[in-house]
Amino acid sequence: MPTALVTGCAGFIGSHLSERLLADGYRVIGLDNFDPFYDRAIKQANLAAALREPDFVFHDLDLLAGSTALSKAFADERIDVVVHLAAKAGVGPSVREPASYLETNVLGTVHLLEWMRLAGVKNLFFASSSSVYGNTEELPFREDMALLAACISPYAASKLSAEQLTYTYHHLYKLNVLNARFFTVYGPRQRPDLAIHKFARLLLAGQPIPVYGDGSTARDYTFVADTVDGVARGVAYLLAHAGTYQTINLGNSSPVKLLDLIEAVGTAVGVEPVLDRHPMQAGDVEVTYADISKARQLISYNPRTTLAEGLQYFVRWLQKEEVTPAPPLLTSVPAS
Ligand SMILES: NC(=O)c1ccc[n+]([C@@H]2O[C@H](COP(=O)([O-])OP(=O)(O)OC[C@H]3O[C@@H](n4cnc5c(N)ncnc54)[C@H](O)[C@@H]3O)[C@@H](O)[C@H]2O)c1
Repeated sequence: MPTALVTGCAGFIGSHLSERLLADGYRVIGLDNFDPFYDRAIKQANLAAALREPDFVFHDLDLLAGSTALSKAFADERIDVVVHLAAKAGVGPSVREPASYLETNVLGTVHLLEWMRLAGVKNLFFASSSSVYGNTEELPFREDMALLAACISPYAASKLSAEQLTYTYHHLYKLNVLNARFFTVYGPRQRPDLAIHKFARLLLAGQPIPVYGDGSTARDYTFVADTVDGVARGVAYLLAHAGTYQTINLGNSSPVKLLDLIEAVGTAVGVEPVLDRHPMQAGDVEVTYADISKARQLISYNPRTTLAEGLQYFVRWLQKEEVTPAPPLLTSVPAS
């Protein structure tokens, strides 16, 4: 049974991924420091299902404690693959406190890479972000686009820097790497700071929706089970292909304009939205739009959840009709 270390396992995507890898036959070691970006109780609830599984082990640990602390924590483990999701996420807050974003997302990644080198762990799946494309004019975004003058927020810069570091460790120490750029992931357990979650709560509370800019910005919203399916496929690919260094987009390839999103959330919640207009926020990009042909070809990635379906699953979770949501459309990729 292969063992996967999932950093950021108590977060939105990490908790779904941990459950998916357990279902696929992995032993999962989860690491998280319950970063206070949002409520610890939410993260503990995220972890509840994984914690019930005998093949799941949890470590309450901060990556910034360094490679020696990681070596101590995992001294008795044989880890086959690391899925590195732990990060400070979010564009707006990174503009306000850049140093802490760079510290966690870059220095934290360096500590992890150093521990992997020392411990001889050979495979890394790294969660990057569509934000690295910035306002690149050519659409859809392709992985081979030049990005040296693209990042328009400290968060984006931290993710591109971490991608560069995974290349450095691939070059120096033959680390086997798959970087995946996620595109606005949504679904049950979505972070409370993200648009769909925020909008649904405001609508249910009878409050207006803040709209930044003219509403024409667009995002390639991707349902969490589709993203997680891409990660599971990526992990299986890494374990079967030594010498890999690849970067892929895990998006939906179907951007939705902000005003259309608000209408769709209103429909899912059953409330007519009232808009509250504001100027565009610093660091926000105009459009995200993934070309996913490389991920389709490399790992048979195939996102299938429409926005209307995904919003239904999300709203059902929000209204607590499902106490422990089972993400739909999970096809199993058995651990080899
Ligand atoms: N959600 C999205 O739309 C999206 C889009 C692009 C990229 N991503 C990336 O995917 C990953 C997961 O995102 P998410 O939405 O699940 O975020 P999240 O905030 O829910 O999860 C991140 C987890 O990392 C943990 N963490 C933070 N700093 C840590 C540290 N120093 N040591 C240990 N753990 C730490 C947090 O406590 C949290 O549980 C992140 O790397 C994020 O940048 C997410």
